[in-house]
Parts: sequence; C-alpha cells; structure tokens
Amino acid sequence: MKTPDKQNYTILEIQNLDVNYGGIQALKKINLTIQKGEVVTLIGANGAGKTTTLRAISKIVNSKSGEIIYNGRNITRRQVHHVVQLGIAHCPEGRRVLAKQTVFDNLLLGAYIRSNQAEIKADIQRQFEQFPRLAQRRYQLAGTLSGGEQQMLAIARALMSRPQLLLLDEPSLGLAPAIVREIFSIIENLRATGVTILLVEQNANLALQIADRGYVLEAGSITLTGAASELISDERVKKAYLG
Ligand SMILES: Nc1ncnc2c1ncn2[C@@H]1O[C@H](COP(=O)(O)OP(=O)(O)O)[C@@H](O)[C@H]1O
Ligand SMILES: [Mg+2]
Repeated sequence: MKTPDKQNYTILEIQNLDVNYGGIQALKKINLTIQKGEVVTLIGANGAGKTTTLRAISKIVNSKSGEIIYNGRNITRRQVHHVVQLGIAHCPEGRRVLAKQTVFDNLLLGAYIRSNQAEIKADIQRQFEQFPRLAQRRYQLAGTLSGGEQQMLAIARALMSRPQLLLLDEPSLGLAPAIVREIFSIIENLRATGVTILLVEQNANLALQIADRGYVLEAGSITLTGAASELISDERVKKAYLG
C-alpha cells in the first residue's frame, strides 16, 4: 500500500455535478469521492473538464446542479474564501504566482485567511525547508523564477493555508522532465504529511504512478474509475492516454 495513513473516511464527495459555461456543458453529472489521505488523479484530454472540476470544488465556478460534500458539510453554495477556511487549497493551472511580488510575499498571500503572524512566519520557514530553491530566492520577484520554481512557489503558497485537501492542476505542464520528477517527489512527500490530494494531469502515466486511484474524464463525463494500478494497465487508458 502506498499510503500508510489512509483512513476510512470520505473527505470529499461530488454527487451528480453539472457545470455550464453559457451554453457549453462542461461537466455532466459527475460523481467522485476521495478518502482522507488518498492521492486521487483526474486524467483526461485537453478540454475534458478537469480544471472545471477543481474550480467547482474551490467555488471559482458555480455548479448548475448536484452537490459537493466536504468533511460531511455541503459546500455546494459556499464562497471561495469560506472553502479555503474549511481546508481546501487550489493550486491553479499555469501557477498564477504574483509576478511583481517576491517569493516571500507570495507565500504570505497564501496565508490570507489566517491571522496568527508567528504561526504564519513559522510556516513560511517550513516551506523554505521543504523547497530550498525558494529559500535561496525568497526576495526575488516571482516573475523572474523559472517555470519549475514558479510551480514550487504555487504549491508552497497553496500549503500556506494549511489545507487538508490540496487541488493540484497540471503541476507538470511545460516543465522539463528533471523538474517534473522533482515536483512529483514533492507531491509524494506531501502525501506523507497527511494532506489529501486531487491531482489533475495530462501526464497520465506519471499521475497514475503516484496515485492510489484515478478517474478518467472525457468530454465532461467520468468514463472510467479504479485503482491507479488497474488503470495504468487498462487497455482503454493505455490507448488514449499512455501513448
Ligand atoms: N471560462 C470559460 N468559458 C467558457 N467555456 C469554458 C471556460 N472554461 C472552460 N471552458 C470550456 O469547458 C470545457 C472544459 O474545460 P476545462 O475544464 O478547462 O478542461 P481541461 O482542464 O480538462 O482541459 C472546454 O470545452 C472549455 O472550452
Ligand atoms: Mg485544465
């Protein structure tokens, strides 16, 4: 078993979720559950609705129908900051660090819902221990970091809200293979700290190697789900996503 601290407790349950953008139905009655401590991956082609799923969970987009239950609470109609307060952090596609702010200030912004300054400072130090490249660059403007460093900063910033559930959108996108390996080893370390992870990836091979379970999203619908070890050898997955 990959996850020693996996508990038999549902941290997130998505039931029959529909999301529309104007006339486009981006998600069609999707169902997805995550147990506390799991790494679950959502794989699918460009445009399948992966980002929309994460945005629906973190309330950046509203759902048309269906429910999102987090830690036993219905969060379907909550607002972004409230969801962050409840322990969900979203590390967005394309990193979206604040280019004109320093690494340090980006991390500080990740803690915007918190008020204990001593704890925030201690957590920034913890992120610097976890991401030594960020420590060396703490006063550098985020926009001058490499793509991989920006991705590390985006993850570290998300962790500054002390999440129980981390939503990671395409952390490997556009990065060189060596950096991708580094990012994925960071994700494995995060799992060991007990944070539950929903990992969106186009790189299905890598994602299925570190995940416990996976869901395949095609044109807004979940078409396949199972243990990552089964999906990685499933002929349909191999043909469509593993090249
Ligand atoms: N802000 C938006 N306005 C209109 N359509 C959108 C918007 N964002 C995404 N879409 C559409 O929703 C579908 C799913 O997109 P997305 O969730 O970004 O897919 P993925 O992350 O899997 O590539 C696509 O057809 C996309 O064009
Ligand atoms: Mg996307």
